[in-house]
Amino acid sequence: MAFASPHSLCIILLFLLPVCVLAQTSQNISLNSSLTAALDKNDSWKSPSGDFAFGFQQIEAGMFLLAIWFDKIPEKTIVWSPKGGNLVQQGSTIQLTTDGQFRLNDSQGKQVWSANLAGSGIVSYAAMLDTGNFVLASQDSSNLWESFDEPTDTILPTQILDVRSSSLVARYSETNYSNGRFRMRLDSNGNLVLSTVHFPQTSPNRDYWSANNNGGGFQVTFNLSGYIYLEAENGSILSSITSFKASTSNFYQRAILEYDGVFRLYVYPRNNSATDGKPMAWSTLSFVPENICNSLIDQQQVEVSGFCGRNSYCIQGDDKRPKCDCPPGYIYSDPENKMNGCKRDFVSQECNGDQDADHFDMRLMMSVNWWGGDYERHNNVSESWCTQEKKDHSAIRRNPRRKFTKPHLQGT
Ligand SMILES: *[C@@H]1O[C@H](CO)[C@@H](O)[C@H](O)[C@H]1NC(C)=O
Ligand SMILES: *[C@@H]1O[C@H](CO)[C@@H](O)[C@H](O)[C@H]1NC(C)=O
Ligand SMILES: *[C@@H]1O[C@H](CO)[C@@H](O)[C@H](O)[C@H]1NC(C)=O
Ligand SMILES: *[C@@H]1O[C@H](CO)[C@@H](O)[C@H](O)[C@H]1NC(C)=O
Ligand SMILES: *[C@@H]1O[C@H](CO)[C@@H](O)[C@H](O)[C@H]1NC(C)=O
Ligand SMILES: *[C@@H]1O[C@H](CO)[C@@H](O)[C@H](O)[C@H]1NC(C)=O
Ligand SMILES: *[C@@H]1O[C@H](CO)[C@@H](O)[C@H](O)[C@H]1NC(C)=O
Ligand SMILES: *[C@@H]1O[C@H](CO)[C@@H](O)[C@H](O)[C@H]1NC(C)=O
Ligand SMILES: *[C@@H]1O[C@H](CO)[C@@H](O)[C@H](O)[C@H]1NC(C)=O
Repeated sequence: MAFASPHSLCIILLFLLPVCVLAQTSQNISLNSSLTAALDKNDSWKSPSGDFAFGFQQIEAGMFLLAIWFDKIPEKTIVWSPKGGNLVQQGSTIQLTTDGQFRLNDSQGKQVWSANLAGSGIVSYAAMLDTGNFVLASQDSSNLWESFDEPTDTILPTQILDVRSSSLVARYSETNYSNGRFRMRLDSNGNLVLSTVHFPQTSPNRDYWSANNNGGGFQVTFNLSGYIYLEAENGSILSSITSFKASTSNFYQRAILEYDGVFRLYVYPRNNSATDGKPMAWSTLSFVPENICNSLIDQQQVEVSGFCGRNSYCIQGDDKRPKCDCPPGYIYSDPENKMNGCKRDFVSQECNGDQDADHFDMRLMMSVNWWGGDYERHNNVSESWCTQEKKDHSAIRRNPRRKFTKPHLQGT
C-alpha cells in the first residue's frame, strides 16, 4: 500500500497532463483555421464538454449545411445554421482567416456567407462553448460575433432572443432548412406573436398566437432553470411562454419554432441514469399554440393561409401534432410534403343540366368546417332533405369553380 500511492499518482500525472493540454487547445480555435465539407470525414470544432459541435452536416447527397448541433446524441440535432439555410457542395470551406474574418466559401471559392462582425475590435480566436453558442472573440475575450445573436429557428438554455431586433423563422420542412412559413416576432405594439409570412418572403402576414403581454416586450429568455418567458426592459416577466420545465443538468433542451408553426420545447435525457421516465429521444415538454388548426383562423373567421395547402384541411391528432388531410376523392399533391395541398383524384366533371345530378353525391364529414366556403346555409333541415335539395338544385352547377378551390382549415 505504501508503495502503491506514489506509483499511481505518477501514472495519473503522466496521463492527465497531455489530456489537459489537449482540452485547453481545443477550446480556442486560432486564426487561419478552417473546416472543409467532405463525404469521407466529419471534421468539426467541439465544445469542451463535447455536447456541441460546429461544422458541416450532410443534409442530402453531396450537399452540406454549416451548422451547430448536439454532438453527443445519435440524432446530431441541428440548433443553428446561417439564416436562409443554403446548402453547399462538398469541398466548401468555413475559414477563420488570418485577418479575423469568418467566411463560408463554396467549392468554387465563392463566398456564400460571412459573420457580420459588430463594431470595433479584431477577432483573435473563435470558440464553441458548452452552451451551444459559437463565438468570435477579441484578444481581451469580448465577443464580436455570437451565433446566439443570430438564431434561426431554435433557442437554447441561457440564450436570450432580443425580439426587438431579431426573430425566429421556421424552416420549410423537417429536412429543408430554407425559410419556411412562420415567424416568432414582436409586433408593432410590443406583443410577442407567432405569424404566418408572405411565403416565400419572410414579411409577416397574419398572427395566429399572441403572448397577450399588453406591449412592452423586450426579450425572450430561456434561462438555466429551463423557463422560457418574455421580459420587459426593466426585467419584469410579462408572460411565461412554456408551461412546464425540466432540469437543464439532467436534460438537453431546445425550443424551436417548427416547420408546422408550433413553438415547442423539447427535452432529451443527458444519460440513462436520470431520465424522469422520458425516452432516450427528444420529447415535447411544452408547446404553443394549443391547437394550431383552430388558431390559424382569426377572429373574423377568415382562414389564415400558410399551413395546409389548397383543398386540404388541418387536424390535430392524439399526438398533439397538426397534419393536413385530403377530403374524400382527393390525394396529396406532393406525397413527400403533405403541407403542399391536395389535388383531384377523379376526372374533371361538368354539370350539363339536371340529368347529370345523379353523377354527384354528398359525403358527410364530421367536425370539419370549411371557413368561408359555404355555398348556402340551411338551418333545421334533415340530412336527406339537404342531399335531395343539393341534387335538385346543384350548387356545383351554379358555382362550377368553387368546389374545394379555397384552402381549408380546422377540424377536430
Ligand atoms: C495558414 O494555414 C496554411 C495551411 O494550413 C499554411 O500553409 C499557411 O502558412 C498559414 N498562414 C499563416 C499566416 O499562418
Ligand atoms: C459522418 O456523420 C454521418 C452522420 O452522423 C454518418 O452517417 C457518417 O458515417 C459519418 N462519416 C464518417 C466518415 O464518420
Ligand atoms: C473566399 O471568398 C472570398 C471572397 O470572395 C475570397 O476573398 C477568399 O479568397 C475566398 N477564400 C477561399 C479559401 O477560397
Ligand atoms: C483563448 O484565447 C484568449 C485570448 O488570447 C485567452 O485569454 C484565453 O485564455 C484562451 N483560452 C483558452 C482556453 O486557451
Ligand atoms: C426547400 O424548399 C424551398 C422552398 O420550397 C425550395 O425552393 C428548395 O428547393 C428546397 N430545398 C431542397 C434542398 O429541397
Ligand atoms: C416594468 O415594465 C413593465 C412593462 O413596461 C411595467 O408594467 C412594470 O410596471 C415595470 N415594473 C417596474 C418595477 O418598473
Ligand atoms: C429562471 O426563471 C424563473 C422564473 O422567473 C426563476 O424562478 C428562476 O430563478 C430563474 N433561474 C435562473 C437560473 O435564473
Ligand atoms: C448522468 O447525468 C447525471 C445528471 O446530469 C450526472 O450527475 C451523472 O454524472 C451522469 N452520469 C454519467 C455516467 O454521465
Ligand atoms: C329549429 O327548430 C326548433 C324546434 O322546432 C326551434 O325551436 C328553433 O327555433 C329552430 N331553429 C331555427 C334556427 O330555426
